[in-house]
Amino acid sequence: MISIKSEREIELMKKAGLLVSKMHKFIKPYIKEGITTKELDRLCSEFITSNDAIPTCKGYEGFPCALCTSVNEQVVHGIPGNYKLKNGDIITIDVVIGYKGYQGDAAWTYAVGEIDENKKYLMEHTKKALDVGVSCVKPGNRIGDISAAIQKYAEEHNLGVVRELCGHGIGREMHEDPEVPNFGIPNTGPRLKPGMIICIEPMLTYGRRDVMLLEDDWTVVTADNSPAAHYEHTVLITEDGYEILTPRLD
Ligand code: MF3
Ligand code: CO
Repeated sequence: MISIKSEREIELMKKAGLLVSKMHKFIKPYIKEGITTKELDRLCSEFITSNDAIPTCKGYEGFPCALCTSVNEQVVHGIPGNYKLKNGDIITIDVVIGYKGYQGDAAWTYAVGEIDENKKYLMEHTKKALDVGVSCVKPGNRIGDISAAIQKYAEEHNLGVVRELCGHGIGREMHEDPEVPNFGIPNTGPRLKPGMIICIEPMLTYGRRDVMLLEDDWTVVTADNSPAAHYEHTVLITEDGYEILTPRLD
């Protein structure tokens, strides 16, 4: 069932989304060579709780941390730990924050120092694939329109579309209906209506699109070890289009 949010719920979703944006802005200056992913997690966890909010990922199906930190060939759900970032890495920080019972969710990929041209290309076009997906959001359009637009953009740029994971509705729960795949067919799937809120989140690879799960049962990596990027926004469907609830503040 796809929920339609009330005015009051939309106000709370905006607050949750804005906290997600503020957390990303807060952590960005710390993303430098030498810091561990565990330290990034600790800083963000403190930021979240000191803002009267909840790090929703922590404890979700046993996930141990506030952030997912996915480095280089890691696609999603990397667990913060003792890994020290090094020059040339890319790291995706994905976070879900709960505020007064409502969730905001956004991921973006950051460069550590100077990264190579391939990673720059991957980051640029994964970000643009998200923009292309978001631009399809308006009442009357269907989920398949978003999915197909992302797939087309990614494949035209020779990037792999990870198919095992997808976007989702969001509200009181971090994962609600509908599913929002990053590949699909135009004019198929649920129709968008004002008051729905969805997360759009292309996960693209520089090489093949196949992925594997590491033995920690969380970290998803590319099968060919090529780098992956991931950008995600929480998006409200409005009367005449959309509003991004997790705007970038940097
Ligand atoms: N932000 C992720 C998503 O959109 C969720 C993180 S999974 C968790 O699906 F287990 F860490 F919570
Ligand atoms: Co998400």
